[in-house]
Amino acid sequence: MALKITVIGTGYLGATHAAAMAELGFEVLGLDVVPEKIEMLSAGRVPMYEPGLEELLRKHVAGIEGSTGRLRFTTSWEEVGEFGDVHFVCVNTPQKHGEYACDMSYVDAAFASLAPRLTRPALVVGKSTVPVGSADRLAALLDERAPGDVELAWNPEFLREGFAVDDTLHPDRIVVGVRSEAAEKLLREVYATPVAEGSPFVVTDFPTAELVKTAANSFLATKISFINAMAEVCEAAGGDVAKLAEAIGHDERIGKKFLRAGVGFGGGCLPKDIRAFMARAGELGADQALTFLREVDSINMRRRGHMVELAREAVGGSSFLGKRVAVLGATFKPDSDDVRDSPALNVAGQIHLQGGQVTVYDPKGMDNARRLFPTLGYADSALEAVRGADVVLHLTEWREFRDLDPAELGEAVTTPIILDGRNALDPDQWREAGWTYRAMGRPRA
Ligand code: UDX
Repeated sequence: MALKITVIGTGYLGATHAAAMAELGFEVLGLDVVPEKIEMLSAGRVPMYEPGLEELLRKHVAGIEGSTGRLRFTTSWEEVGEFGDVHFVCVNTPQKHGEYACDMSYVDAAFASLAPRLTRPALVVGKSTVPVGSADRLAALLDERAPGDVELAWNPEFLREGFAVDDTLHPDRIVVGVRSEAAEKLLREVYATPVAEGSPFVVTDFPTAELVKTAANSFLATKISFINAMAEVCEAAGGDVAKLAEAIGHDERIGKKFLRAGVGFGGGCLPKDIRAFMARAGELGADQALTFLREVDSINMRRRGHMVELAREAVGGSSFLGKRVAVLGATFKPDSDDVRDSPALNVAGQIHLQGGQVTVYDPKGMDNARRLFPTLGYADSALEAVRGADVVLHLTEWREFRDLDPAELGEAVTTPIILDGRNALDPDQWREAGWTYRAMGRPRA
């Protein structure tokens, strides 16, 4: 009999995990407390933009013509408790309002709702990103409140938005924190396909499993802030950070990836994870170990202000009043509609608040951007956004923007100045078409 799997929380992580588990051949039941989400998913629709996810969902959701029928959704905790051999908890852990620490209320609520419904033997597997020590606490809660034979494991998730399906089906590593061989055996069964394809399977204890996730994200954030710090020095010294990144990246110990200087990192993970990590280290008395993350965070936030200053300089140096600023990009990265803590929207918002007339265009993030910043101007295309602009800001590196025709855009603007906040456009192409091209950390032509 194939294992029966439940997935609790159907956001980015949960919806992708549920569809991937069905793809691996398991019977899957997804739960969310928001009925509208369950209605959408049951109809084979995904509440966010993620390449390939809707197709995968439709391939498996019961009731859709031609589907395997292996994937269903519910709002009933009783149904989940009766159904699953393995329960994956995938709810989110956002930053607490006004604090660095992360908000564990969704995780705590999920465990509190699930525990008393676990009437048969089950493995509960935490996937949410949590402060180290949470798994120990949640295991004790299960011991106390679950009526059946129930165990906990911790299995952090490393998926990237925009590549979520691929990262889930072909993970570059699987990390499991377990307390028994039985739990390890069950998780090896769940992940048999990716392990057979070569994904490393790392078995560890609870605290290490929890720390692997926050350590990985802290390292990535540090790499980005490192290259952005180099960009600041390059600007002061007249160097070229893109060349510098290429050259140091040839050293295999450093590597080329995550060394793209620009307006910095955003999104629902890196910023809040490094802050929650600092907060937790402080609680544990190890705050000194992570003070460097404060610097990583401030280098990153400084990028946004620096982009605003470059834009101010481009429109004459003093004020944005009466100036038209086009912003290409609203999402925190391309191939996603996620605008959480997006550097692009942050820059757009700052310029707007300083009196600039800002018009934003993004291929997929318009609805979310409008909800978050209803007072900004929005256009239906890049060409529309740049019409009459005194300066154009390229802040999210969508392929669509790389494919733009600088000559065509040049005819629409008032002044052909482009500031490339992602170091992703071809400077020669824009300069040849008559534009003044500037990028962060690179020499002016
Ligand atoms: C991240 C981690 O990569 C992933 O493993 C974890 O599970 C969740 O958090 P994600 O938030 O999807 O994933 O985005 P990621 O691709 O890591 O990019 C984060 C931010 O860094 C984006 O705003 C991106 O534009 C920026 N970035 C990335 C840079 O500024 N420069 C780079 O070189 C790379």
